[in-house]
Amino acid sequence: MSASKMFSVLLLVHLLLLAPSSSIEPISTAAFIGVTTAVTSLVTYYTGAKPHFAVFCYMWECCAEGGNYIGLNEDQLEKDLKETLFGQHLVHKIVVKAIKNFVKKPNPSKALALSFHGWSGTGKNFVSNMIVKNLYKQGLNSIFVHYFVATKHFPHADHVQKYKDDLQKWIQGNVSLCQRSLFVFDEMDKMHPGLIDAIKPFLDFHIVLDNVNYRKSIFIFLSNAGGMKINHITMEFWKEGKDRESIRMVDVEPFLQMGAFNEKTSGFWHASLIDKHLVDFFVPFLPLEQRHVRMCINAEIEARRLEFTSSEEKERIIDSVLDEMTYFPHLERIFASMGCKAVSAKLDVHI
Ligand SMILES: *[C@@H]1O[C@H](CO)[C@@H](O)[C@H](O)[C@H]1NC(C)=O
Repeated sequence: MSASKMFSVLLLVHLLLLAPSSSIEPISTAAFIGVTTAVTSLVTYYTGAKPHFAVFCYMWECCAEGGNYIGLNEDQLEKDLKETLFGQHLVHKIVVKAIKNFVKKPNPSKALALSFHGWSGTGKNFVSNMIVKNLYKQGLNSIFVHYFVATKHFPHADHVQKYKDDLQKWIQGNVSLCQRSLFVFDEMDKMHPGLIDAIKPFLDFHIVLDNVNYRKSIFIFLSNAGGMKINHITMEFWKEGKDRESIRMVDVEPFLQMGAFNEKTSGFWHASLIDKHLVDFFVPFLPLEQRHVRMCINAEIEARRLEFTSSEEKERIIDSVLDEMTYFPHLERIFASMGCKAVSAKLDVHI
């Protein structure tokens, strides 16, 4: 049993023993407060958490690195990517390395900003969740992970000022509680440009801002922006009979970096983040081919431990799921328009 776990058991025992009587007996109340304070300061000392946060952290989750609550499980991340993310060799190449190198630094010069680009269903959310799960013990339930969806959290263009204020307050508040906070911004392409300006200062090479150090935080941006361009590049490779794995970063990244997508809204936010080099990695998610979707279906079947009467039966079901998807180009039916997105729901219909 780790020391911090032992502490929590101790505190719980005290709570159980003393709490019921504490309202009547002043001595027990004093003892209770005394013991709680003592335990709390011990924990504060032990974990390095801010004092006002200690009791809470102690009962639930703590901003302590080194494995107990926050720490990268590098091997597992690599394994997860290998076993469940298909057709994305560039993602494999960049993501683990980027996170690993960043987390390793005791004193990074700026917050890590990753920008994931690609069509829906190519795995952007999937990978961002995977990072979270392998970095925080509590995974997606971690209180240090914050997830924002443009159309859900910031829908109205005329409230931008309020959103901006809120967002800055939240980022500041949360990073003061835990420097190793992680923020995911989904649907970046639908985000009002003014909001991006609110995030910008936190990504910059500031030493500290209002006494808060933001340089250990991680920001992940997800967007469809550039998806069209990525699809186009991948299709060109396919047309020329070249292996998609031969697509290199230099074939794609310049377009993402310039924000030169010819897509109405996407260029906006990019321009403002890019001109100061605030995004560290642009990560392209390629459109998935039918064979990759097949792998997704297989992985889903395995994850759910589905059983079939025969392997023919299994193949028949996989084929009918694949048949229901739409593909582009229309005639050749090579790339799945929705990637692996609807796989789970479609599988439900067929079993
Ligand atoms: C942390 O962020 C959440 C939104 O994810 C917000 O509701 C909360 O108030 C923030 N906490 C602080 C202390 O600012």
